[in-house]
Amino acid sequence: EKGGYEHFMLKEIYEQPNAIKDTYRGRLQSRDNFVKMSGIEDNLRKFTNANRIIIVACGTSWHAGLVAEYIFETIATVPVEVEYASEFRYRNPIINSQDVVIAISQSGETADTLAAIKLAKEKGAFVFGVCNVVGSSIARETHAGAYTHAGPEIGVASTKAFTTQITVLTLLALKLGKANGTLSNSEFNKYLLELESIPEKVEKTLLTDEHVKYIASIFKDAANFLYLGRGYNFPVALEGALKLKEISYIHAEGYPAAEMKHGPIALIDEQMPVVVIATKKGHYEKIISNIQEIKSRKGKIIAVVTQGDTQVKKLADHTIEVPETIEPLTPLLTTIPLQLLSYHIAVMRGCNVDQPRNLAKSVTVE
Ligand code: F6R
Repeated sequence: EKGGYEHFMLKEIYEQPNAIKDTYRGRLQSRDNFVKMSGIEDNLRKFTNANRIIIVACGTSWHAGLVAEYIFETIATVPVEVEYASEFRYRNPIINSQDVVIAISQSGETADTLAAIKLAKEKGAFVFGVCNVVGSSIARETHAGAYTHAGPEIGVASTKAFTTQITVLTLLALKLGKANGTLSNSEFNKYLLELESIPEKVEKTLLTDEHVKYIASIFKDAANFLYLGRGYNFPVALEGALKLKEISYIHAEGYPAAEMKHGPIALIDEQMPVVVIATKKGHYEKIISNIQEIKSRKGKIIAVVTQGDTQVKKLADHTIEVPETIEPLTPLLTTIPLQLLSYHIAVMRGCNVDQPRNLAKSVTVE
């Protein structure tokens, strides 16, 4: 059942090229320069007339929502807010029929997300679901939706659900960007072609596994980890830290790299491994100066870089290369080595990777 892998988590990490492909199959039509998503086509007006999109989710799905925020604002120029479902539902959120709410959930059973949907519906918003489990409560409770076709995710730590959620949300943003005139036909096509090439690039990224395992062996006994990223890769830093916490029980925090100097930099010493996402696109120079700040305080730098990078390599203690892609799609690649890093560290520490202590696969309690 684990297909020759030692754990479900590892199997699911390796399934990502196919899971992403299965998720865009039939939807991404690069030759016709079209994205087919009936859940959106039937409700296109709701989306194009919306004042803003509010994304509600928990945990890893919330991180996918944060990545989507950057993607929507660039590709579809729609204002987006991302909310923890548990906070949203207990405030008095100002929402009305001009708002579109997108609920993201792998299991489709998360109690807080479900309650947030019910609240948004009461206030007249149109609610769109992005779920993995077909026929789940959230899939049924939303007005329309699009499934991620990740296949069953058994490992408690979410991996392929995250990358397929980003895939669906990118398709959605593209569809809106085209409908509202933000994207020209050629820009639209460029995105489709690049998204289509992502599974192959994820495959290449998975080849870093042995190297990542070696890095894991060096840092497995660390008491703390910091994860830093900027822009599209700030949520990836949060997700990297969450993965490490939940399966290896090492304390880890994710931060936007520029926030370092506002507090967390005080933590840096020679004992502190810092994972920095430093791909070529987007704030590259800024990230390099962030890396220099860490280095001068003797922090150990593990950098995720674009293939062929030379600048970061000179500064970092360890680098992990990912193929080049357009900036909004980098999270689909940079996430992979961070999943592998947490996996290997957890295995080396003798942790129960697929069923970490205190965690359940779907959180149906509030
Ligand atoms: C992290 C993880 C959790 C879930 C969260 C939401 O690896 O699995 O943080 O992402 O409980 O679950 P879903 O997406 O099922 O609503």
